Amino acid sequence: EKPVVLGLIGYGTVGQGFVRLLRKETNLLGRRLGFPLFLKTVVDRNIKEKSSGLLDGVVLSHDPASVINDPEIQIVIELIGGIEPARSLLLEAVRKKKSVVTANKALLALHGEELFQAVHSNRTDFAFEGSVGGGIPILRSLREGIGGNRIQSLRGIINGTCNYILTRMTYERQDFETVLREAQALGYAEADPSFDIDGIDAAHKLAILGTLSFGSPIAFQDIPVEGIRKVQTIDIEFGRELGYVLKLLGIAKDDGASLDLRVHPAFLPEDSVLAGVDGVFNAVEVNGETLGPALFYGRGAGSDPTATAVMGDVMELARAIHTGCFHQVPPLGFSWNDRVHRPV
Ligand code: HSE
Repeated sequence: EKPVVLGLIGYGTVGQGFVRLLRKETNLLGRRLGFPLFLKTVVDRNIKEKSSGLLDGVVLSHDPASVINDPEIQIVIELIGGIEPARSLLLEAVRKKKSVVTANKALLALHGEELFQAVHSNRTDFAFEGSVGGGIPILRSLREGIGGNRIQSLRGIINGTCNYILTRMTYERQDFETVLREAQALGYAEADPSFDIDGIDAAHKLAILGTLSFGSPIAFQDIPVEGIRKVQTIDIEFGRELGYVLKLLGIAKDDGASLDLRVHPAFLPEDSVLAGVDGVFNAVEVNGETLGPALFYGRGAGSDPTATAVMGDVMELARAIHTGCFHQVPPLGFSWNDRVHRPV
């Protein structure tokens, strides 16, 4: 069978996890798909230093154009993060009719509509499961698994770094700075960790979750955000004495008239499900109008969980290419809901 050809831009924590998984599970992937995946080119600023046996047989480059302009490459995987040059590269790849996979939540939260419009008008394909919840297939579930439901509300722990920090502060009385350095060493934190601790990363993810859940474009800038920078061990201890555990939550509600989205730390009763979600784990509780509650839980950050989500996206888009049957994804800004997000 003819392979589907991949090009990877960004060989950091997630990119390396992706290539490890691809190498480890070549046979499994081939059997599940019925055709092979071929990673042709990997681009990274420091590709020479990062090169290892894992990249044997792969073209290594510093120049994203070697992926974008290669007519043989069918799926472009963007794992560099940040807005530019990621945005321009993805738009260019879409114009070149390539399918694109990204885990870039900041880009989706700020420019999702533009990307979706470009994908739509170029009749290509786009997937971004790795952008929210690490390895938990929450976006696919919202769109497909429970896509036949109106979503009334969701509430979740969607930043692994903050949850790791709060867990260590709660149960081991560790101080904030020490645990943050640990989360960075484990590859959980963003390149700029203030995105994690100030709640910005959680708000990026909430904007994506809200847009998919409510069918109404959510402007990231309109989400009120408070992070965990000011949390002290003493706050956590007072809460515990009263039977509460402190978590950073992303909350989105459709109250029937308007949409309410926010990110802030909250005390949860210690016997509630979310209070028991510890360390780097993420969890999202979703309430569907017909379904009722559903819980999505799993490893929410780090190389291997996020690489798992990216691989799932690559498989989905590769199948579409192989069968010649693209999803016609409606633009992200399509509005089937008359409720609007009115920030408080
Ligand atoms: N920095 C993010 C987190 C990575 O800690 O959740 C996963 O998106």
